[in-house]
Amino acid sequence: MTKIKLINITRMFGDGDSTVHALNDISVEFQPGSLTALMGPSGSGKTTMLNMIGALDRPNNGTILIDTTEICALNDIERAYFRRGIGFIFQRFALIPTASAYENIEFALRISDVPRPLWPERIMHTLSLLDMADHAHHRPNELSGGQQQRVAIARALAPRPQLLLADEPTANLDAQRGSAVLALFTELCQSGITIVMSTHDLAAEHFASHICLLRSGQIESYEARATTSAIQIPQITTEPQ
Ligand SMILES: Nc1ncnc2c1ncn2[C@@H]1O[C@H](COP(=O)(O)OP(=O)(O)O)[C@@H](O)[C@H]1O
Ligand SMILES: [Mg+2]
Repeated sequence: MTKIKLINITRMFGDGDSTVHALNDISVEFQPGSLTALMGPSGSGKTTMLNMIGALDRPNNGTILIDTTEICALNDIERAYFRRGIGFIFQRFALIPTASAYENIEFALRISDVPRPLWPERIMHTLSLLDMADHAHHRPNELSGGQQQRVAIARALAPRPQLLLADEPTANLDAQRGSAVLALFTELCQSGITIVMSTHDLAAEHFASHICLLRSGQIESYEARATTSAIQIPQITTEPQ
């Protein structure tokens, strides 16, 4: 169970007249088991916020609590250790080009606590959740953008992280595949994991428990979508995009 609390977070880039406030004094809290969709126009601060929560970048000001850990106070080694517990899905996949889908996931398990004898079954099970088991031995350049995206999602999920951070995870998927991934995320949240994802996908609004709308580095609105903790999973339609 992972609770995320951002308190007065500011992240600036550049200096002088060219200073950009990617995040401008934002405070927000994400509850364990929630699926938050970070929405808002390009440049509104979504990726910067994910990088803050995942300890990939530091704010200029403010405090970030992940459960009871104040991650800004950690040194680089402690931050690297902290990141081991997080599943990341990056906007540009970041797959290892010379490794197969299977091996890409294996690399992720190497830095996890999952015992080696469990790896083969874990890898194939996770690939099949993403409907990619048939492509286990394909390298990224033998896969379409959407297939690479699904391998990247499988790689993030395989260690079974308690916190998943996803940057536009459905951007390269057609509507049906995108909804399948979002339904999978919803199920994961019901089992207790916390997910924060940036997205432009309007379908995400049906699956997310919370919508956090960013604009120019500030939170324009933050709303719970469901009135109870039981999130309805809509039927996945097979309509064309
Ligand atoms: N490394 C960086 N150097 C300079 N400016 C940056 C950097 N990262 C982000 N920015 C700026 O911060 C703002 C927010 O960017 P970002 O978080 O990537 O937005 P989003 O993910 O919502 O599109 C943008 O104006 C962007 O140009
Ligand atoms: Mg972005």
